[in-house]
Amino acid sequence: MDNIFPIFDTILSTEDKERLLKQRAVVVWIVGLSGSGKSTLARGLENELHQQGYLTQVLDGDNLRSGINNNLGFSHEDRVENIRRAAEVSKLFADCGIITICSLISPTNEIRAMARSIIGEKYFEVYVNCPLEVCESRDVKGLYKRARNGEIKNFTGIDSPFEPPEDPDLEIRTDIHSIEECHKQLVEKIIPKIKYK
Ligand code: ADX
Repeated sequence: MDNIFPIFDTILSTEDKERLLKQRAVVVWIVGLSGSGKSTLARGLENELHQQGYLTQVLDGDNLRSGINNNLGFSHEDRVENIRRAAEVSKLFADCGIITICSLISPTNEIRAMARSIIGEKYFEVYVNCPLEVCESRDVKGLYKRARNGEIKNFTGIDSPFEPPEDPDLEIRTDIHSIEECHKQLVEKIIPKIKYK
């Protein structure tokens, strides 16, 4: 062949990207009930890491569901597909060296095992543990009230299951500790994993 001119003789690895960014990539997979505090912790972590000079990307269930996942609902099958896509997208970011912070209910053991198997060793599971009664009394988005009134079907914790993670890498109790304390617990766990030595 005299009409093909390959310009790449190597494909860059994650290691090459991490060296450029001077950080180690991780996928912080934050799970828990609606209203448990996942998004707040995800945003707080991103802001803190940004200030410390790390490149991050937040993937939030509600945001993804208004874009790449906007054809999915809350049946078991759709939640599996929601998490599958989120995990595949996270993997692309992490392969590029970016610290990826995901905030999705991820309600079942099966769903979380799938995310872990797609992402591999960079998967770091954070369980934001807060009792249903507390999440429901906060009712930040007014969704629990609507679910109790029967206006929303298959609502996690009401008429759709939530299986608490059995062996998370980190568990944070947002009903016991202040937001600041929870934020501190998360940041302290993540920093050693992303430091470039
Ligand atoms: S997951 O179960 O597939 O992981 P995901 O995190 O993407 O859920 O989306 C959850 C968000 O969707 C909630 O924070 C809430 O705002 C909204 N929501 C709307 N309907 C439901 C429902 N039936 N169950 C849970 N969350 C719902």
